[in-house]
Amino acid sequence: MTELLDIEDLRVDFGTGREAVRGVDLRVGRGETVAVVGESGCGKSLTALALLGLAPDGARVSGSARLDGAELVGLGERELRGIRGDRVSIIFQDPMSSLNPTTRVGTQIAEMLAIHTPMRRSARFRAAVELMESVGITDAPERARQMPHELSGGMRQRVMISMALAARPDLLIADEPTTALDVTVQAQVLALLRERTRDTAVLFITHDMGVVAEIADRVAVMYAGRVVETGTVREVLEKPQHPYTAALLRSVPDPDRPVSGELPSIPGQVPAVGEVVEGCPFSPRCPRADDACTTAPVLEAGVACWHPHTDAQTEAGAEDAR
Ligand SMILES: Nc1ncnc2c1ncn2[C@@H]1O[C@H](COP(=O)(O)OP(=O)(O)OP(=O)(O)O)[C@@H](O)[C@H]1O
Ligand SMILES: [Mg+2]
Repeated sequence: MTELLDIEDLRVDFGTGREAVRGVDLRVGRGETVAVVGESGCGKSLTALALLGLAPDGARVSGSARLDGAELVGLGERELRGIRGDRVSIIFQDPMSSLNPTTRVGTQIAEMLAIHTPMRRSARFRAAVELMESVGITDAPERARQMPHELSGGMRQRVMISMALAARPDLLIADEPTTALDVTVQAQVLALLRERTRDTAVLFITHDMGVVAEIADRVAVMYAGRVVETGTVREVLEKPQHPYTAALLRSVPDPDRPVSGELPSIPGQVPAVGEVVEGCPFSPRCPRADDACTTAPVLEAGVACWHPHTDAQTEAGAEDAR
């Protein structure tokens, strides 16, 4: 069976040699939630935007991304707009960027229902209020008549989730949807997302390992524009193979709860966009690097590394870089 989303060797460059996404391989199965995690600037957002024809001006996208077997890369703007509206929904970190600041929230949801459902005009606003109630917004009839800025950040993100899912997409792309929220609200919004996407495939972008454990079935760890490790959340968080993944997880003190909080900082720098990377891009920061690493490893059996941690080594490996 074909995967719902199958990304192969996806690349985004900003002119010759200025590659920001350097050959991403990633799959999302039907109904599955896959988290993409990695440090700032590693190409998470760009990967998601490139799939849907939303990469910034001047970006050139190549490689392959198939939705249900159909190629997205190279599609025209009209076709992509159709896919974005219908089959793939996106939620961003800042809901204000997607909401119209001068239109009542309920009206915006009703407009979306006009596009995606055969619902009659008279029924739409009422349905919008019900949608708001369904995502836990109290006093929804009053809230629906308010402008986006009158709602809290958490409420706005709930509105975005209700709109994104009302279109019944096959795939939801969520790019740091809870990062701007305070911790309690973040937990509530994550719980809502989890509950509402049981049957929807989700590509969930985050830099928070705690969120990965909370929401995802599988995880893809990105480094410098590539996926360097992938596997089930359990495999990757409990037995990281790539030294980069191990480093991300290591700084967390309690081994029974190895996955809360933001990415720790790792000494050294991520290669800049346009910087020529010979061999493994992590090798300058890697405690395991040797001569083999002057050749770039490819993603094989879930890891792109010449010296991955094996089961027996994971503990020792965690020791030697401490
Ligand atoms: N318009 C652009 N022109 C040139 N470089 C760009 C442009 N947009 C993004 N980039 C570069 O592409 C790289 C990847 O950006 P991207 O936004 O995908 O990172 P990210 O992993 O989502 O980071 P964050 O966690 O901060 O959101 C960055 O280094 C960024 O500087
Ligand atoms: Mg981003």
